[in-house]
Amino acid sequence: MNVFITKNIPEAGLQLLQEKGLNLTINPTENVLSRDEFIKICQENDAVLNVGSYNFDEDFFKQCSHLKGIALFSVGYDSVHIPSANSRKIPVGNTPDVLSRATSDTAFLLMQSVARKSFYNHKRIINGEWGAFNAIENLGQELYGTTLGIFGLGRIGFEMAKKCKAAFGMNIIYHNRSHNENAEKELDAELVDFETLLSQSDVLSVHANYTEKNKELFNKNTFAKMKRNSIFINTARGKFHNEDDLFHALTNNIIWGAGLDVTNPEPMKQGNPLLLLPNCCILPHIGSATYEARNGMAVCAAQNIIALFENKKMPFCVNEEVYF
Ligand code: DGY
Repeated sequence: MNVFITKNIPEAGLQLLQEKGLNLTINPTENVLSRDEFIKICQENDAVLNVGSYNFDEDFFKQCSHLKGIALFSVGYDSVHIPSANSRKIPVGNTPDVLSRATSDTAFLLMQSVARKSFYNHKRIINGEWGAFNAIENLGQELYGTTLGIFGLGRIGFEMAKKCKAAFGMNIIYHNRSHNENAEKELDAELVDFETLLSQSDVLSVHANYTEKNKELFNKNTFAKMKRNSIFINTARGKFHNEDDLFHALTNNIIWGAGLDVTNPEPMKQGNPLLLLPNCCILPHIGSATYEARNGMAVCAAQNIIALFENKKMPFCVNEEVYF
């Protein structure tokens, strides 16, 4: 079976694929292929292992309906138009669980960084602005006993909630389509409607899988309903928030701060005004960037490809309906 890998992945996954004798073509460049180049190379292969960047829309599936399957090197699958994959019975796999700790660690890191303005304080040193001890400036806020609101409490949200409860005794509320019984039992988490999530959260952290329905859900109107002391954290997808509206909220004391590991669009431009705000901490989409998580992702993606090769069900399939 011929497999196109859109960018290099950790050895742990490559080795599994090589051991099975699969014929691998790895895009050797850091460059993103043009749409035509990408389609052409996918047409020459039986399966794709996708690392970042490419969109699998209806047009893609029309031109590549021969594919046995697509293995994503991510837990998020918003880059794939699932109904188009389903109508061609093409399974799509992702990499759940293995990155939940790393991604929730990033959300926790950003929450703390925003609460203590740490990126801004670091910049003060770089700019020679340390100065004398000051008792009333650059103060942060403590999170003990405050309320964490999770938008989309799945595996990553659960890990974030667990850390916040253990570290700061935070109360957990969440907004989901359905109950997360585990979170309710173990963390005393409470399912609330979206309006309550906005109005009650001291920290609101986004962990849902992105769909178009939630495009820029966090915008002028929703930020206006949040607490003035609140911190907005997004480590899921940048498309969940409107960046102009976030800038407005941060510069008009509508919310207290924001921490982003994902931006809208990505990559964020160098001169983006959010980068200069003292109450905003931004990272370049490194949520899962640990050795442990990336090795785990490589293994999951390889296992998904190997299942195609062995005519078995993908172990981590997001559209299981294709098998029925
Ligand atoms: C994921 O796994 O979805 C991460 O955001 C990397 O894309």
